[in-house]
Amino acid sequence: MSMESVEAYLQQNSERFVSELSELLRIPSVSGDSAFKGDVRRAAQLVDQQMRQAGMTTEIVETPGHPIVVGTLTQSPGAPTLLVYGHYDVQPPDPLQDWITPPFQPTVRDGKIYARGATDDKGQMLTHIKAIEAWTKATGKLPVNVKVIIEGEEEVGSRNLEDFLESHRKQLACDIVVVSDTSQYAPGIPAITYGLRGIIAAEIIVRGPKQDLHSGIFGGSVTNPVNALAKLIASLHDDQGHVKIPGFYDEITPLSVQERQQFAALPFDEVDFLQGVGVSTGWGETGFTANERRWARPTCDVNGITGGYQGEGPKTIIPAWARAKITCRLVPNQNPEKIVQSLEAYLRSHLRPGATLEFKSDHGASGLVFDTSSKYMQAASRAVAAAFGREPVFIREGGSIPVVKTFKDILGADTLLLGWGQNTDNLHSPNEHFTLADFHRGIHASARLMWELSGRK
Ligand code: BES
Ligand code: MN
Ligand code: MN
Repeated sequence: MSMESVEAYLQQNSERFVSELSELLRIPSVSGDSAFKGDVRRAAQLVDQQMRQAGMTTEIVETPGHPIVVGTLTQSPGAPTLLVYGHYDVQPPDPLQDWITPPFQPTVRDGKIYARGATDDKGQMLTHIKAIEAWTKATGKLPVNVKVIIEGEEEVGSRNLEDFLESHRKQLACDIVVVSDTSQYAPGIPAITYGLRGIIAAEIIVRGPKQDLHSGIFGGSVTNPVNALAKLIASLHDDQGHVKIPGFYDEITPLSVQERQQFAALPFDEVDFLQGVGVSTGWGETGFTANERRWARPTCDVNGITGGYQGEGPKTIIPAWARAKITCRLVPNQNPEKIVQSLEAYLRSHLRPGATLEFKSDHGASGLVFDTSSKYMQAASRAVAAAFGREPVFIREGGSIPVVKTFKDILGADTLLLGWGQNTDNLHSPNEHFTLADFHRGIHASARLMWELSGRK
């Protein structure tokens, strides 16, 4: 049986797969920091090499930013075509002092591999490349057609991917997209994610006096930009956790009773959940559960704030400026452009006199949900069950993978979001890790998915 020989190959090569993951994790491919530009390219080259080793024809496609690695293996006429997407770039590793072992020296402790990018997304995306290798090496042939796109700019908003998809629309034609860049529901509870939130990002700078002033001489007579920024931020929410930007909730499709019931039926211990992140009480929009708020309600969060004196000891000044970075997570049917405009208008209307507001917006993407009854979802469910020993639950997630919407718009294809990681893997955070058992189960599930989609021959 073909699937059996693939499974035997996975067993025999599991240690090598881990060392090849380590090799990739050793490269600091931080896309957001130009100091790492050469490393980002080296990571692309290593991904390319591992894809060729898997039997694919590959190409490193240049963009105005970081390169995209593209692989194809389409020798199964009549079989469905799978498009695998992932990213080889990573978030910055800061704060460095909080890492137990350095972020780019992958270390295995307790069955988990620790390194920046271990789960997001090097370890997860590599599962599909290793599954392809297993099929080609163990049986000489893939049961389906596969196209693979691994990009290097996901963590900075996938700036050049849309142009690439537009210009390669024909070559990338596919039946279904597969992305492993989300999480399982919980340890021992695999999940298929059928919805993601969208996102808009903005940076605001409040400017006041032309330079820092003595707060004794001038305090009380001019607007303090840090105070004014704090007022703007405070005006974003009411005390019930609702976002006060006019029209923010207007276009949202409300959660159905059935979906609320499905969420509520998932095992969830809020005390545990909060303890896991080190807080004692939760906070958010009243009238919704934590999972509803995380997955299916929009939010507006300040990601960082800078301004005034930050050194040791007091310094009595009226600072000249203050800056904040803001993102809103969006749910299906909210229009990102409209939300950016209403955010800007709202902030301008709450700005104190005597200050100016500079508003810059960055990447935008809408939220989405997919139909869970498709034959692809069902095939994925069987594949995950076979590899993880348990049926997956269907969940939504609050993170964003903007390109998933672009796949729908440009290629007309839905995406299977098959996350092998855990929310507690510290993605974007110190001591990021990926459980090696999940890495191997992910490879197995991917190999099995190809078999399920082929009609099991
Ligand atoms: N892999 C994440 C997205 C994710 C994580 C989705 C966990 C669901 C659960 C991805 O790499 C990411 O970090 N996306 C950014 C998007 C942004 C940079 C446009 C995000 O969600 O903040
Ligand atoms: Mn990711
Ligand atoms: Mn990420």
